[in-house]
Amino acid sequence: MTEINAAASERRAPVTSDLPGRSSARATGPARRQRSARQLSPALRKGLLSAHIVTAVGWIGVDIVLLVLALTALTSTDPRTVAASYVAIGAFTVVLLVPAGVLTLATGLLLGAGTRWGIVRYWWLTVKLVITVVLTTLVILLLRPRVAEVASRAEQAGAAGLSRDQLGNLPVDLLFPPVVSIVALIVATVLAVYKPWGKTPSPAGARSAAARARSGPSRRSSVLLPARSADGEDFERGPGRCQRILTWLTSSVPVPPADEEYLMTAVLSSRGHQAPGPRGLPLIGSARELRRDLLGLHLRAMREHGDVVRFWAGPPGARLEFYTVYHPDAVQRVLASESGRYRKDNQFYEEVRRAFGDGVLSSQDERWHRQRRLTQPLFTKARVAAAVPSIVAETDRLAQRWHPAAGGDGMVDLHAEMTRLTMLVVGRTVFGADFEEVLPVVNETFLPLAEHTLKRGFTPLRTPRSWPTPANRRAADAQRTLYRVVDEIIARRRAAPTGTDDLLTLLLEARDPGTGQALDDAEIRDQVLLFLLAGYETTATTLTMALHLLGRHPEVQARVRAEVDTVLSGRTPVAGDLAGLGYTTRVVQEVTRLYPAAYIIGRRTPGGDRIGEFSIPPRADVYVCPWATHRHPEFWTHPDRFDPERFIPERAATRHRYAWFPFGGGPRGCLGQHFSIAESLTAIALLIRAYRINTPPGDIPLATRITLRPAGPVPCSITPTT
Ligand code: HEM
Repeated sequence: MTEINAAASERRAPVTSDLPGRSSARATGPARRQRSARQLSPALRKGLLSAHIVTAVGWIGVDIVLLVLALTALTSTDPRTVAASYVAIGAFTVVLLVPAGVLTLATGLLLGAGTRWGIVRYWWLTVKLVITVVLTTLVILLLRPRVAEVASRAEQAGAAGLSRDQLGNLPVDLLFPPVVSIVALIVATVLAVYKPWGKTPSPAGARSAAARARSGPSRRSSVLLPARSADGEDFERGPGRCQRILTWLTSSVPVPPADEEYLMTAVLSSRGHQAPGPRGLPLIGSARELRRDLLGLHLRAMREHGDVVRFWAGPPGARLEFYTVYHPDAVQRVLASESGRYRKDNQFYEEVRRAFGDGVLSSQDERWHRQRRLTQPLFTKARVAAAVPSIVAETDRLAQRWHPAAGGDGMVDLHAEMTRLTMLVVGRTVFGADFEEVLPVVNETFLPLAEHTLKRGFTPLRTPRSWPTPANRRAADAQRTLYRVVDEIIARRRAAPTGTDDLLTLLLEARDPGTGQALDDAEIRDQVLLFLLAGYETTATTLTMALHLLGRHPEVQARVRAEVDTVLSGRTPVAGDLAGLGYTTRVVQEVTRLYPAAYIIGRRTPGGDRIGEFSIPPRADVYVCPWATHRHPEFWTHPDRFDPERFIPERAATRHRYAWFPFGGGPRGCLGQHFSIAESLTAIALLIRAYRINTPPGDIPLATRITLRPAGPVPCSITPTT
């Protein structure tokens, strides 16, 4: 892990800031903070933090109540209501606003743990308060003429139980509490920005991240971090309530580097430091790039910020915050060596569960263990070999359709063709002959359901599924139709077993080797749906991009054809032939490097983690990104170049296991990997043997949907080889 940080910091943008000045300030700052952090026992710190949060939230609450009262006073024509509101404002200010303000400031100062100015560093809180107070003041100012009018009516004074003078002073009195709050908060903000108690430089953006990564870790780990194992056993206990609240609060507003540092070290506990990341646009962070150029964003983030990067997007209250790790060591940690810390508890998998059921792709714990034990035997070498004839049959049918004799015009859209092919292959493998019945339903329902899942999987604000919005209704209809058809087939098969060897039959017959237990009908439906979900678009992307690249690189295409001719000698391929297609296999591997269908893989860490020098807070979403890691400059030279030779065994053997991981890894690695490779090899062999492919110039725009796929048609021209 140390290598991660060292290497990453070398790759980051050059630092031009005034580092000498910074070093001396840092040497005293953290040391001072640590001293004070030791003075507060953890229990006291937790208590203070709870009190601080409660009073701060109370402060905002009182401001809102004052706002409502002021509005009532200013808009009512009934003098008695005006008077009652006026009195209530006074009472609220004295009884609640002042104590809440004082307590918030006091607990904040104590929590400041050595900075003496702790509260002013909570600028996220300051921002929230300022917004409330400014709104109050604006409303009062806007309604001021109305107040003057009320006050001018002498006869109303008596009815309101207030003196005429009091009514005359009403606008000023109403303004008083918010004005005091504003002044206090402006002072606090100015102090936070200028830090007159000892200037800690406040570097901006990537400069700060880079400088911290270069100068921070060693000093921090020796001065700030208590001795902990590198694996951080301390994090096993999971977050306390305070930490969760603070994490929630701090996640709702962007925190500048200096303050993040403060929060992480003085409050959340000293674990490592906050990963750097793109600063993004005010209020929305990286939202635009995440939507428009996700792949580019990750590549830039890896280049500019290093191997562990923090992203945020969206305004406070609707904010998405997550981490992505790029270095193979870190990938290995998340997927394999420390996979116990990472769960599929994130929003995306939650949506997959709701749309497609809780099958082996999304399930967890004992349910997943059981499902994996029961489904793994469906993907053994022998089972994959048994599927090859059906792959051959479907590909042959496709090749015949392309032929000029069958009306083919020499132009094909690879994306549409490969999607159809892989859908038929996986569908027939799962359902056998019954797939004829399922295919139209899958065509009609799968895409809308997958799109709905993707949208809800990554939006910070989701309407409850039970609300009858058009999108929810469409998804519910699609799901009902899909479930009905699959359930009917399962029921029919139970009633009259077909004796075929498709995956559905195997699932119906599967028994847990340990307990002898079978899968129930709903579980069987969940498995078959996710085999479809995981199994067709992924392989379709691989095949599309493979044929596209072969069309771009005629010399590679010629070599593949020569290999196929040598190995098959004109025969129909059988499973045993695939091992002989070494070069074609390397082509497929290189295609999955450049275009990994699963371009990003997500997890959530309930108890937090420490990756390299960086702290990952509890409940954070953490992603690994094959798209970026497959282009990591430390592991791939000329990463954008298509070069199957990278995968010759001698070169591959010296590479990090997780520099290339299109099928994931660790206990949750892809079940269908061998099936997918066998399918790709068979289809490429048959199509390249039958056709010469020529790809027109031009880039293929990519879409980052549930899987990576071409954004539109992928045209190519074909000519029969014989
Ligand atoms: C190019 C083709 C494919 C790619 C790139 C691919 C990629 C992946 C990846 C990256 C994962 C791990 C997901 C995670 O860790 O969250 C995965 C899991 C899985 N894949 Fe694939 N896959 C492919 C084809 C298939 C096929 C053809 C099937 C089955 C018909 C399949 C079935 C599964 C299943 C069941 C899992 C879940 C395993 C578990 O969590 O225990 N995949 N796949």
